[in-house]
Amino acid sequence: MKILVFRNKEEASQYAANIITNKLREKPDLRLGLATGSTPILLYQDLVNDHVQNQTSWSNVITFNLDEYKGLSAHDVDSYHHFMNEHLFSKININDKNTFFPNAKTDYDDLIKQYGGIDIQILGIGRNGHIAFNEPGASEYSKTRLVDLDQDTIQVNANKFFNGDIKKVPTQAFSMGLKTIMEAKQIILLAFGADKSKAIQTILQAQEYNKDCPATVLIKHPNVLVLVDSEVNLGM
Ligand code: PGA
Repeated sequence: MKILVFRNKEEASQYAANIITNKLREKPDLRLGLATGSTPILLYQDLVNDHVQNQTSWSNVITFNLDEYKGLSAHDVDSYHHFMNEHLFSKININDKNTFFPNAKTDYDDLIKQYGGIDIQILGIGRNGHIAFNEPGASEYSKTRLVDLDQDTIQVNANKFFNGDIKKVPTQAFSMGLKTIMEAKQIILLAFGADKSKAIQTILQAQEYNKDCPATVLIKHPNVLVLVDSEVNLGM
């Protein structure tokens, strides 16, 4: 695992965007794992800017999102599908048929395998150490499945989205599992802001998988890049 500290989230996001756009030029049919939440918004803006300025094509790219709320359709403004359309898909030349989200009907792990696996997986991290919606207690061998959201996650997501209305936040979601995430060839984790410090410190100190902080599974992956801004206290 390699960790890079940036002055701010703008610089960290641009760094991640450059990795993706360089890879896209080398492999136009990139298989990309995508995250939602407040963290990757600048990264998606940078990817859109690159598409506009350099005409980088997304027509052969396949994307797999990490998660989606149960019960929210793509048209629902609070769905992750809608989030992706707003921040990325509607602004690049990606084919909608090539963008996937976990749901009740699809064997997502199998689908990812059919497409040859994920080349680069983008991750955010919850302040409770979750990646995707693998909440504390998740098995490191978990596959994509329906999960119950942690009370802390529901509270955090109500504060950032859903107009602050906690009653609107679904209590369940379909989420890639930890094993699914670990099968990606390369992982880029972004963490911005002081409230991610504890989770990042726990990863850096981990010697083995700690189910209280699911992101610690990443220490076992051979190709993980962690990009943090200077607000994250690494405890060193
Ligand atoms: P955030 O969420 O980007 O809104 O901080 C990250 C996550 O919960 O994985």
